[in-house]
Amino acid sequence: MKYQTINNKIAEVMFRQKISKQQLSSTTALPNERTYKESAKELRNRVKRTINDFQDLEKRGIKFNYYFEIGSEYCERPMALEKKFKIKGLASDISLSSLLAASDFAKKLKFETVPKRIVCDAYCLPFRNNSLPFIFCYQTLHHFPDPKPIINEIYRVLAPGGYFFFDEEPVKQILNIPLWRRPTCLRPWEKILKYIGILPFISRIGKTEVDHGILEEVFTLKTWQKALQVFEKAEVTIKPFPFGPQSTVSKSDNVNWLKPKLSTYLLVTCWGGGIRALCQKKGYRIKSNIVNPLEKYTCPVCQTNKKNENIPYLNKSIDNKNYLCSLCKTRFPIISGIPIILPIKEMKIYG
Ligand SMILES: C[S@@+](CC[C@H](N)C(=O)[O-])C[C@H]1O[C@@H](n2cnc3c(N)ncnc32)[C@H](O)[C@@H]1O
Ligand SMILES: [Zn+2]
Repeated sequence: MKYQTINNKIAEVMFRQKISKQQLSSTTALPNERTYKESAKELRNRVKRTINDFQDLEKRGIKFNYYFEIGSEYCERPMALEKKFKIKGLASDISLSSLLAASDFAKKLKFETVPKRIVCDAYCLPFRNNSLPFIFCYQTLHHFPDPKPIINEIYRVLAPGGYFFFDEEPVKQILNIPLWRRPTCLRPWEKILKYIGILPFISRIGKTEVDHGILEEVFTLKTWQKALQVFEKAEVTIKPFPFGPQSTVSKSDNVNWLKPKLSTYLLVTCWGGGIRALCQKKGYRIKSNIVNPLEKYTCPVCQTNKKNENIPYLNKSIDNKNYLCSLCKTRFPIISGIPIILPIKEMKIYG
């Protein structure tokens, strides 16, 4: 399995600091990236799509109170969920600046409340095994060289019977000669190439991110299948991009279960596409255990050393400025109300 390096993580934090500043002011540090107006429009669209997704989940009887989101960035999706579905949960990201910017975006998008937030590393979630009922993420898994270790970590912290939902992740387009990476806002000559229909076949997205050291991956169906193998149940939808027939497949005992129908497969191979999945961990949730497990964090340092044990929860210091681990004595700072609960090496990103 491949992992993000510490430099990739530092790059995420530095890049998000720059871009959140640009998107909250009228500065243009990153000329081909969204301005405030463009990003607000994008966030509104994301909100609409998220509400649709969760209405579908609700119709299917899936309970998502006490959600936990990974890679929340500006937290527009959990803000919308808390308002629309009256639920509670926790938004997380490795970037403190993005989570802090959520308060400004909340005002601009007219959300009254900002979700509870935490800085943590998706590789090392600060929770006990088998503790969270519902985890989701959007547009985040492709920031890792392999989604498998992240999905394994999500499986570890999910409660028996708990769900993991993700959407808006890419499936690799085979018919692509990646001559260069294009930025989010196309340059004039890229617009011409788009107009004549060849841009997606000769370039890839993510120029600014990759220039900063961030990973922007696309995975084959085989890689997705391998990553989802840990779940006992998974329902996966593959959608060709920009359009075409989608195909939904459920995990079975067959080793090669992630096989969309031929038309979807051919279009995804040509154009690329998107993947979404709803996964469930086996077992039944005991009702009395559902007490907002998100209030209780564990130490990521001790969690890694004592994989199978229920380690003690972190305690807040009397002055409310830190969380403390009673085992290894690590202090995790709380900055502007947001706890930074990272493994030792990653802690250095924040000094
Ligand atoms: C493209 S953004 C996702 C935006 C948002 N979820 C959406 O689609 O509305 C990906 C997020 O993943 C976060 N991220 C990257 N590596 C991470 C890691 N190791 N642990 C936690 N978050 C990480 C980034 O900081 C970034 O905010
Ligand atoms: Zn510890």
